[in-house]
Amino acid sequence: MELIDNFGRRINYLRLSVTDRCNLRCRYCMPADGVDKLAHAAILSYEELFRIASAAVAIGVEKIRVTGGEPLVRKGIVPFLARLAAIPALRQLVLTTNGMLLPEMAVELRRAGVQRLNISLDSLKPGTFRAITRSGDVGQVLAGIDAAVAAGFPPPKINMVVMRGVNDGEVADFARLTLDHPYTVRYIEYMPATREENWQRLCIPAREILDRLASAYELEPVEKGEMAGPSQDFRIRGAAGTIGVISAVSGHFCGECNRVRVTAAGMAKSCLFSDETLDLRPYLGTDDSAPLTEALRRLVGCKPERHGIDGGRVEHSAFSMAKVGG
Ligand code: GTP
Ligand code: 5AD
Ligand code: SF4
Repeated sequence: MELIDNFGRRINYLRLSVTDRCNLRCRYCMPADGVDKLAHAAILSYEELFRIASAAVAIGVEKIRVTGGEPLVRKGIVPFLARLAAIPALRQLVLTTNGMLLPEMAVELRRAGVQRLNISLDSLKPGTFRAITRSGDVGQVLAGIDAAVAAGFPPPKINMVVMRGVNDGEVADFARLTLDHPYTVRYIEYMPATREENWQRLCIPAREILDRLASAYELEPVEKGEMAGPSQDFRIRGAAGTIGVISAVSGHFCGECNRVRVTAAGMAKSCLFSDETLDLRPYLGTDDSAPLTEALRRLVGCKPERHGIDGGRVEHSAFSMAKVGG
């Protein structure tokens, strides 16, 4: 079964957000006192999330990435992940996390059948890390990365959102991590999700990040794996790991986009930046899965050709990444 959108793209990847809550308060993601949290009753139950996941897999989704907020703060997440992992036709179950809870949860996540972890880490310096996350402890995330590897996970992908004047002085430090560790470090262009005025100053184009790295290291392109995400990957000659850039703003990976999203409140989004959402809740109350399947097909049918960010122009309304899951 294949899901093809109106632009010929094969949609086989679902990003499923299980909560909008988080144990950090990253400045680019939420205000100091957090976002207006979804009411408990507005959050889909695990049963409902599972129905969406199963219906998506039945029509062609092969990879599910569980996101948040921070997915590991939701109670009962491990058994839910184990249930997802047991969907026979699902080929990949992966998770994006800020890593804070990995020291205590990595082993059970691995046992539950999660295949891979992407871990957000924007600074290796305790002070800068705290300034960005407002509350986090970089030592705990680094311990989380070690715990993941010790639990048998493949080397994680480390996501660094690069912000000019905030953490861009550490681009080379992150690259150096890959010399001895088989991690994939991905530099992400800062996206104007919240539409703050100075976003263009903060956002460093992937091209510039690559130029900076290329002036210090010899970079070799790395082939994209099957079902790979949007990053363009390289290896510093001789390094154990790889580096990648995600040109979320400047780049045009929209042409290869393979994904749709569902928020913890059951709102489906065909593009990260699209204002239109499709409320899946009306289709979750019955045992008949046909209406839900039909709704998911409609979602794919209205996926736009590309996002509407062009130069300084931003078309979408402000939204919180914590609600959508990135
Ligand atoms: P892989 O499948 O491991 O490559 O994952 P991924 O890179 O798709 O997922 P991850 O959750 O690690 O996201 C990394 C960054 O890419 C985050 O900043 C996401 O917001 C961003 N991202 C993921 N999908 C899209 C997309 O469709 N459009 C844009 N603009 N950014 C995206
Ligand atoms: N720009 C780029 N990446 C972002 N993320 C959250 N907000 C933004 C933004 N405005 C990243 C997180 C995490 C991933 C899911 O999305 O750092 O790694
Ligand atoms: Fe939490 Fe992720 Fe938002 Fe940071 S970016 S506050 S880790 S949801």
